[in-house]
Amino acid sequence: MTNTSLLIKNGTVVNEDRQSLADVLMVDGIITQVGTNLSPLSNDTTVIDATGKFVIPGGIDPHTHFQLPFMGTVAVDDFDIGTKAAISGGTTFVIDFVIPLKGHSLLEAYDQWRGWADAKVNHDYSLHVAVTWWSEQVAKEMEILVKERGVNSFKVFMAYKNSMMVTDEEMFHIFKKCKELGALAQVHAENGDLVFEGQKKMLELGITGPEGHEMARPEECEAEATLRAITIANRVNTPLYVVHVMSKSAANVIVQARKEGKRVYGEPIAAGLGVDGTHMWNCDWRHAAAFVMGPPLRPDPTTKGFLMDLLASGDLHCVGTDNCTFCANQKAMGKDDFTKIPNGVNGVEDRMSIVWENGVNTGKLTPCDFVRVTSSTAAKIFNIYPKKGRIEVGSDADIVIWDPQAEKTISAKTHHHAVDFNIFEGIKVRGLAATTIVAGKVVWNNGTLSTTLGSGRFVPRPSHGCVFDGINKRDEVRNELLRKVDRQPYTGPVFVPKS
Ligand code: URP
Ligand code: ZN
Ligand code: ZN
Repeated sequence: MTNTSLLIKNGTVVNEDRQSLADVLMVDGIITQVGTNLSPLSNDTTVIDATGKFVIPGGIDPHTHFQLPFMGTVAVDDFDIGTKAAISGGTTFVIDFVIPLKGHSLLEAYDQWRGWADAKVNHDYSLHVAVTWWSEQVAKEMEILVKERGVNSFKVFMAYKNSMMVTDEEMFHIFKKCKELGALAQVHAENGDLVFEGQKKMLELGITGPEGHEMARPEECEAEATLRAITIANRVNTPLYVVHVMSKSAANVIVQARKEGKRVYGEPIAAGLGVDGTHMWNCDWRHAAAFVMGPPLRPDPTTKGFLMDLLASGDLHCVGTDNCTFCANQKAMGKDDFTKIPNGVNGVEDRMSIVWENGVNTGKLTPCDFVRVTSSTAAKIFNIYPKKGRIEVGSDADIVIWDPQAEKTISAKTHHHAVDFNIFEGIKVRGLAATTIVAGKVVWNNGTLSTTLGSGRFVPRPSHGCVFDGINKRDEVRNELLRKVDRQPYTGPVFVPKS
């Protein structure tokens, strides 16, 4: 059998820790050489010249919801369209969420998601699993998912009262099980009871439009829940990953907790780094509704710069998207009541360019930082590094040739999503994926996709990744501080309550 080989010449190879001029040779989907003056393997080797461009690990989006059944409808970007949109923007790996209904089997839900995804993905992927209720059965299924199905992360929702929300007590037990299994606990942090009451209040006041969505659940609802989740995880002594950090207040809670030595990671998303929540006050209902997601985009226009600064400083970690798209007619389920607008926005296609534009083009991030926040850190946290998220011998040949000079104006007219709106509409970005390589094959070049339906593979993620390093030691140190006082027994009178 002949080898499939591809050689990228004359580019600047960028990893999270260094960049240098080098060539990259890949054979049968694996990187086999990185160095200068590399030669093609044979006459059949495809050679691409990357002069003036960066050669970076394919982007990793740790937070997508392709074809998610949610709020009475189904997200329109399925695993085919979603992964094509990803590839066209320079992302080659996503971690989607299995979300079982309360009372339902986690394993059955997992099988269902695998069925949907395996048939359609155009690049590799993996799955987190949401835990929406608690029982002995759930505990057993979490164990099977970790030991036999390649899952190493479980998410709880503190919002969506009466559907996916869990109580603090349930969260405590779920986090304990995560720790026992060496799986990372993740949280959607919003105070679901306060959100519920806030929504009722808005409707009572006659505020039925999309602006009511943010006012019903302002920043403090997110910040309080973030602190509560961190506190519960810290009591358990298990690492915690906060998905979609949307506000300065919640981000500050994470910064403070990290200063106190708590093991917590934060994920801003492309939407929160590229736009703000003022759009929900737009007079055009469709426009305003398109920005409805939870936790909400914040009306404070300085939020996006603030979150980018925290990515630069390392206080926040990897950029997701929460890509969960609904067309106008779906959003219109909530035309008279914002609580019925399906929550979710796009992001998977534009994530890399939005981060480059707002991070690298502003001087906040170096190209190495860019790689760190768009792929390597996610690969480390979710334990697939250096298979993914790195350009080195032995790593998967998921690579992007990034053109820092190429420009485009983002538009729903030209994007690859199924959704009929783009929250980044009209934003001009400089820095684009010129070529995307998946498993050693060019699947996006000069604006043309050449993907193969279902060719991506599920990547199992082993438990006890680096986020657990030192956790047992912490238990030992903490337990040493827990001292019993030896004292003489009390011998005085004891009050006896009347029965
Ligand atoms: O609005 C959102 N975020 N939709 C998807 C579900 C979730 O909460 O992540
Ligand atoms: Zn969420
Ligand atoms: Zn989400």
